[in-house]
Amino acid sequence: MNASLASPAISPVPRLALVTGGIGGLGTEICRHLALAGRRVIAVDLGQRAERVNAFRHEVAAFGDAIGFESADVSDFDSCAELVARVEQAHGGIDILVNAAGITRDASLRKMEPRQWHELMRVNLDGVFNTCRQVIEGMSTRGFGRIVNLSSVNGQTGQFGQTNYAAAKAGVHAFGMALARESARKGVTVNTVSPGYCDTPMVAAVSAEIRQRIVEDIPVGRLGSPADIARAVAFLTADDAGYITGANLPVNGGYFMSF
Ligand code: CAA
Repeated sequence: MNASLASPAISPVPRLALVTGGIGGLGTEICRHLALAGRRVIAVDLGQRAERVNAFRHEVAAFGDAIGFESADVSDFDSCAELVARVEQAHGGIDILVNAAGITRDASLRKMEPRQWHELMRVNLDGVFNTCRQVIEGMSTRGFGRIVNLSSVNGQTGQFGQTNYAAAKAGVHAFGMALARESARKGVTVNTVSPGYCDTPMVAAVSAEIRQRIVEDIPVGRLGSPADIARAVAFLTADDAGYITGANLPVNGGYFMSF
């Protein structure tokens, strides 16, 4: 067979994936898709939401040991350092990192309090630094890594009431492009998935009237499903996706198209 068509090196042991925001609106489905792709998955989220953590364990029970849970606060550098040390000690090196942790603090700028700006930045942008910083060395040393950070269509277009969110989400992709350049020769890819409006609690929190107007503007005619996003993440984290790096994959039903 032509060498260029030979199968890429597939790991004999299941790759280990860490998914922040792993019990959230998109995160749970991302965990499921990665487990279905043969990955061992650790969902990461704030542990104090005990009811939600229990519901998550129930939702993924069918996957047995393939999906676990660890609590950490992505906005806290030391919490991420402890998380990664704990996971690597118990399970080995982290091969795949998906940053799906994100919050909104919507308000027009004339009403936005510094607290709404800083809380959002700490989770949505600092969180990406805090986790990537912990895993990049190990991935580079082992010569394999897949990082996918979730941005948003609103980071590409802006949205009324989201100066904070749009700035953080645009920053997420810029961060990813820079890290992709630093890591390309080490077998580590860094990509962005930019969801549009999806059927999640975050979008359900937008007023029904505004949401309805948004859905009318989506060419596909519906909100995205968490599975629509999860399959894009699974695609970019595949072992044989090594030539895609620094890319942004929009999954928005055609809501925003660009070249
Ligand atoms: N577009 C245009 N004009 C708007 C507007 C909008 N979305 N929202 C409010 N306005 C107008 C009002 O009609 C009003 O006009 P007048 O002064 O002429 O009467 C004025 O702006 C009111 O301004 P306020 O600062 O008082 O706005 P507000 O407090 O009423 O509403 C808001 C602010 C709650 C943020 C509201 O604009 C909103 O919900 N916007 C949508 C936010 C959104 O889409 N968030 C996405 C969350 S999901 C997500 O982020 C996931 C993802 O990645 C896609």
